[in-house]
Amino acid sequence: MKSVLKIAALFALAAPSFAPAAEDKASNADPEKAAPIATTLCAGCHGADGNSPLAANPRLAGQVPQYITKQLMNFKNADQPSGRKNAIMQGMVATLTPEDMKNLGAYFAAQKPAPASAMDKDLALAGERLYRGGDPARGIPACSGCHSPNGAGIPAQYPRLAGQYGEYVVLQLKAFRSGERGNDPNRMMQMIAEKMSDRDMAAVGEYVQGLH
Ligand code: HEC
Ligand code: HEC
Repeated sequence: MKSVLKIAALFALAAPSFAPAAEDKASNADPEKAAPIATTLCAGCHGADGNSPLAANPRLAGQVPQYITKQLMNFKNADQPSGRKNAIMQGMVATLTPEDMKNLGAYFAAQKPAPASAMDKDLALAGERLYRGGDPARGIPACSGCHSPNGAGIPAQYPRLAGQYGEYVVLQLKAFRSGERGNDPNRMMQMIAEKMSDRDMAAVGEYVQGLH
């Protein structure tokens, strides 16, 4: 009996190296339980299927589930250094439990992103160059390295950018650059955004909006 417990304890210690904590959490999330919240509390701005109708509200459909959950927790802890400030979203998460946030991540991740397109083809082309190759002379890395070549993101840390509103993408890049948004692990995005011009941001925003 004792030795069985010992083995169980050893296994528990070893487990995190097989399955990262964030993935663990996503795997036991239940999207069904989040549906009543998503279709009432969130739908007005993000759409019941996560395809927000207005550019001011980010698209959540197909987003990396752990990223969604992390953002909700960051809004809840807005006053901490790793928090994320936004008056609307801070109000929205006030009544959500950690369980709700996990389930909401799974719910919106499972929604199908609606097709979107870039409006300004020349601007999108400049954005594509930056997205795929970065700008080594200015120390800007390729976005594709972390957000993946097709923009789908890489779980658990790197969010989907494909199909996101260009306007929202620019807003976030500016918030990283000014330090207003500082919830990125190891200042990864802040250091990149500090090197980007307004035109770089507009270009890459235009490009990812049409990426799918
Ligand atoms: C009144 C409009 C409104 C409602 C309702 C709302 N949101 Fe938001 N949401 C926003 C806005 C605006 C932002 C962008 C905040 C910013 O600029 O940082 C946002 C951002 C987010 C983000 C971050 C997305 C990203 O790509 O980083 C998540 C996740 C999110 N909302 C989830 C939810 C969930 C879940 C609900 C329901 C519980 C909800 N929202 C309800 C307006 C809303
Ligand atoms: C070294 C990895 C890395 C690289 C390279 C990178 N990013 Fe990111 N990016 C991240 C991480 C991590 C986050 C999520 C931060 C968080 O947890 O809030 C992020 C978040 C973002 C967001 C916010 C998404 C949202 O839904 O709110 C935007 C926009 C973004 N990145 C754009 C870019 C662009 C444009 C480039 C290329 C110029 C780029 N990133 C390169 C790691 C990276």
